[in-house]
Amino acid sequence: MKEELDNILKEAQEVKNNIKNLQDLENFRIKFLGKKGLLKKILEKIIELPENERRESGAYFNFVKDEIEKIYEELKKKLESKQFVKFDIHHPGRKIEKGHLHILTQAIDKIVNIFSKMGFDLELGIEIVTEYENFDSLNMPQDHPSRDMWDTLWIKSDKQRLLLRTHTSAHQVEILKNRNIPLKVIIPGKVYRHEATDSRHEMQFHQLEGLAVGESCNLQELKGVFYIFFEEFFGRKLDIIFRTSYFPFTEPSLEVDIECILCNGKGCEVCKNTGYLEVAGAGMIHPFVLKQAMIDTNKYYGYAFGLGIERLVMLKYNIPDVRLFHSGDLRFIRQF
Ligand code: FA5
Repeated sequence: MKEELDNILKEAQEVKNNIKNLQDLENFRIKFLGKKGLLKKILEKIIELPENERRESGAYFNFVKDEIEKIYEELKKKLESKQFVKFDIHHPGRKIEKGHLHILTQAIDKIVNIFSKMGFDLELGIEIVTEYENFDSLNMPQDHPSRDMWDTLWIKSDKQRLLLRTHTSAHQVEILKNRNIPLKVIIPGKVYRHEATDSRHEMQFHQLEGLAVGESCNLQELKGVFYIFFEEFFGRKLDIIFRTSYFPFTEPSLEVDIECILCNGKGCEVCKNTGYLEVAGAGMIHPFVLKQAMIDTNKYYGYAFGLGIERLVMLKYNIPDVRLFHSGDLRFIRQF
């Protein structure tokens, strides 16, 4: 009996070295310590022995059983503690990608900063405006032909006719009504148009409205504001063209073109081979608009302008297509 028990212990000690995981250990337990295991079988034989042999073999059986249980407990402790070490603390962590402000937001911050140094206060308007704000208050009554250009994205509403603002000029009269004169204000924001899009036309884009009213506001000052702004924004003097134009809410009206940095004035798709890109509309505020805000047009004058922000950013960073800004393409966004 002693020999049989020795063999079982020997086998257990050999098998011990091959146990690599908890499943192996469970197989070990079943084989040696289980209900139908080797020890159980030998115990059944010992019980059958005569009294004097039984006592001796029983004592040796207990010794072998203790040894095998010790092996089992040690292995269990070792394997279970290994279970929890599932990660390598020395492995470098996964890099968390940091986001950043969109190039347009960065540019708006910069532009607002330049104008605030010139004494302009910041105002913010909302994107849904009334028909009166977008058109009538700006000398564009119901059937005025110049509405066609901006008569676009209407919102269903029972009370008054609402639309997505087509230009930041929609806030002019409200601001003139609410502020004391003299005033100098800028209003940046997103505007919407029903456009056939191309490399320089988007259906949603940003404008920055400028508005100044006082006793001595004039075109010369307006031009001076543009010269200072462009030099600050682009970091160098650029060729600027002030063209006569027409807006129902300014008189006289002008459009502002600056030299196309994309092609160095040689002509490209973006500047339509003219060497210049239109970046703003402007002019002296029409007396009709001032009167909407009850401003004395014999005493006060004003100028206004609307800068196209995407166009400025295109020129500054050599971006060949306005549609890239809202494309959501990370390869584009990550460059700035
Ligand atoms: C206006 O929106 C006038 N409200 C500007 C103004 C303000 C005139 C105050 C007088 C006094 P215009 O539609 O030209 O004008 O737009 C102004 C600028 O927005 C353009 O010079 C151009 O830079 C930019 N812009 C116009 N349409 C688009 C477009 N579809 N995509 C990108 N930029 C555009």
